[in-house]
This record gives sequence, C-alpha cells and structure tokens, in this order.
Amino acid sequence: MTTPKTFHVKSFGCQMNVYDGERMGELMAAQGLTATADANDADLVVLNTCHIRERATEKVYSDIGRLRKHGRAPMIAIAGCVAQAEGEEIVRRAKVDVVVGPQAYHNLPELVAQAARGESAIDTDMPLASKFGALPARRKVSPSAFLTVQEGCDKFCTYCVVPYTRGAEVSRPFAAIVDEAKALVDAGAKEITLLGQNVNAWDDAEGRGLHGLIAALDRIEGLRRIRYTTSHPNDMRDGLIRAHAEVEKLMPFLHLPVQSGSDRILKAMNRSHSRNSYLRILDRVRAARPDIALSGDFIVGFPGETDAEFEETLSLVAEAGYAQAFSFKYSPRPGTPAAEMDGAVPAEVMDERLQRLQAALNRDQEAFNAGTVGKTCQVLLERRGKLPGQLIGKSPWLQSVHLMTDAAIGDMVEVDIVRADPNSLAGRLRS
Ligand code: 5AD
Ligand code: SF4
Repeated sequence: MTTPKTFHVKSFGCQMNVYDGERMGELMAAQGLTATADANDADLVVLNTCHIRERATEKVYSDIGRLRKHGRAPMIAIAGCVAQAEGEEIVRRAKVDVVVGPQAYHNLPELVAQAARGESAIDTDMPLASKFGALPARRKVSPSAFLTVQEGCDKFCTYCVVPYTRGAEVSRPFAAIVDEAKALVDAGAKEITLLGQNVNAWDDAEGRGLHGLIAALDRIEGLRRIRYTTSHPNDMRDGLIRAHAEVEKLMPFLHLPVQSGSDRILKAMNRSHSRNSYLRILDRVRAARPDIALSGDFIVGFPGETDAEFEETLSLVAEAGYAQAFSFKYSPRPGTPAAEMDGAVPAEVMDERLQRLQAALNRDQEAFNAGTVGKTCQVLLERRGKLPGQLIGKSPWLQSVHLMTDAAIGDMVEVDIVRADPNSLAGRLRS
C-alpha cells in the first residue's frame, strides 16, 4: 500500500468523537496530508466510530463495505470506541489497515506509516501520558468549538460500554485546558463547549471543580459563551449550580441524563441516584437559574422493565419538564452486566414505549420552543441557511434560530424570536 496524500475523517456518535475527529484531522494535516470533502476521494479514510448501541457499531461495517465499492481500495483506519472494543477482531472481520483507540490516536501518523509498509498497525493502549500533549496546536475553528476536559467513566452503569472503551475517569490539567481555550478563541471560537463523559466530575489537586474551570474561562477576553456536557446527577456540586446564577457567559442549558423514572430500574442500572434525588437537583438548578433549558437521556426496555415502571418514566418526564431530550431502546452491549440480565423486553413492547416517550418529549420540546416566541435573545451565528442571506445560529437555550441578516458567521446578534417550527425557531434581527 502506498503512503496516502489525502485523507478524510468521518465521525459517528457523541460530541467527544467530533472533537477527536477534528484533532485527528489537524494531526494528519500537520503531516502534510490534504483533507478531502468526500470520503470517496481520499487515500486514507478514518472512521471514528461509536460503540454505545448495536446499531452504531453495525454502521462501521456497512461504511467499510461502501468505501470499497467501485473498485477503490483506500487505506482504512478505524478509530474511536469500536476500535477500542473490538481491536484485532475488526482486522479479521473487515481487513482494515489501521486500528487506533480513543486514547492512542496521537500515534495515527506512525500507524499509517506502518500500514503503508505493509505492517500490522493496531494501537488500543491507554497510556498514562495523555495524547493531548502530542497533538498540534488548534489553528482554525468554527465559532462554536468543543474542548475535551475530562474523559472516561468510573460510574459503571450496568448497560454502558463507556467505562470499557474510554477507560477510567481522567481530568485534563487546568493549565492545559485554559491554554487550549485561549488558542481556540484566538482561532475564532466565540463559544466553547467543555466535553467529558462525566464533565461535571472534572477536578484537580486544588479541588477547583468544574465551576473553578468555568470561572477561569469566564476571564478569557473574546470568549462569549460557555457550555458543558455530559453531566452525571451525582456530580452536580453546589459551586456548579451557583455558577449558573453568577457566570453570565455560562449558558442556561443543562444536559442531565436520568435514563429512567423508576427507582427499581435506576438501581438495576447502578445509577446511584434516585428519581427523587434527581428531581431535587433540578429544583436547586432552577432556583439558581429559573430559565434553564433542561435536556436528558432515556433508555426504554431495560431488562425487567415493567409497564408500571415505564409509566414512572413518563411521569418523571411530566414532572421534570424537558426542553429537549434523547431517548433510546435498550441495546445489550457485550461485556456489560446488563447484557447478562434476565427479563429481556420484547421488541414490540420496546417500540411502543419508545414511541410514547418520544411523543411526550416532542410535545414538551414544542411547548418549550413556543414559550420562547416573543422573547429577545442573543444568537451566535454559526452557518449559512438554505435561503440566500439567511444565517443559522443558536439561542442561549441551544435552539437553532434562523434569520435574514447581513451580519457575518461568528457574530453575536440580538434577535426577536417570531415563530417556533418543530425543529427550529424563526428570528428577526433587532433593529
Ligand atoms: N442501550 C441503549 N442506550 C444506551 N445508552 C448508553 N448505553 C446504552 C445501551 N446499552 C444511552 C444512554 C446514555 C446515552 C449516551 O446513550 O441514555 O446517556
Ligand atoms: Fe455510561 Fe453511566 Fe458512565 Fe454515562 S455515567 S458514561 S451512562 S457508565
């Protein structure tokens, strides 16, 4: 196989994968390779994969097949959580050239060189020294940028592969994060979303906690907005809740997964919080920031979930009041405790529960969006819309807002919200 001159990175799954994909792209560009807009034009295709549910994993294999159609044979590198979970198995099953795990992708150039020499190129190590120090500096980014501050998970929810694919909870050092945030702002970022599987568990030896980190970012001139995701209820410390009242740049949005409204299911999931403790956290957050937009994650059809237990999830949704949420059918993952549990819920029951849950969540999302019509808010313009002169950006509550304006991408503009559509809001520039 010859040394690739062009590359394309395709990321699946969560925002951390998007971030990792960007950094792999920067790394390959620093090696002199050119990025292509289309995977079919690239000598090297990096599939940055997700292992969270079975469907996500299967996508990888269909994508590999598609890349090899039309007689093409690009070098294929599998990165991300499927790489970590399946390792050599992917090489056996799909004959890919490189396999690199989420904690080892700083070695991608070396692995690509090995593959070009016809050598085996698999690296799923989780080295003690972090990959971040070996990555090139950030140069050009979009107005809204991601920044990984924490990785991995020690919570071991019984359904979840993350503790196995991303490893133990690790916080990046304070100074490295602040430096990267400044580099992102110099490179054009106006908004930074701090990322972590348990981002609110971020901490350092001084015990600054995520709110201490947010306070430091608050002082960066030119940075207008701060967000963070994903949080665990048990790591919602007082300081972080207070930051929602005190730090103007911290946006009124909280993604706080609960997964189920039934205490018995929460216990079987090893969530280590109850329905009530979750709802009481929301009370405290709303006392600090009454207009906060709440987001969550739900799983229906966890092994043994009864109709009555599912109804408790619906009643929790009604009580909590979500502005948006993600909901999934339970998917057994190899190696997790839940995959060994009895009481599999039949597919048609899962389908029905998911439909009912999504109908309730959609209704609440529409109500939340309708509630912002008539308000005036700041919108950070992020991209072009379909119509000439139309730009799309985000409200403080993470809603997409489209409007006609001759302002530029990256500008923050004051907008009257005039209409709520199912998935976005229509806005008018305040004159
Ligand atoms: N099956 C279905 N959904 C899952 N999630 C995590 N693991 C599974 C699984 N095995 C969902 C959870 C989590 C989100 C990222 O994905 O809701 O919060
Ligand atoms: Fe998975 Fe639970 Fe950790 Fe979230 S908190 S990453 S759901 S184990």
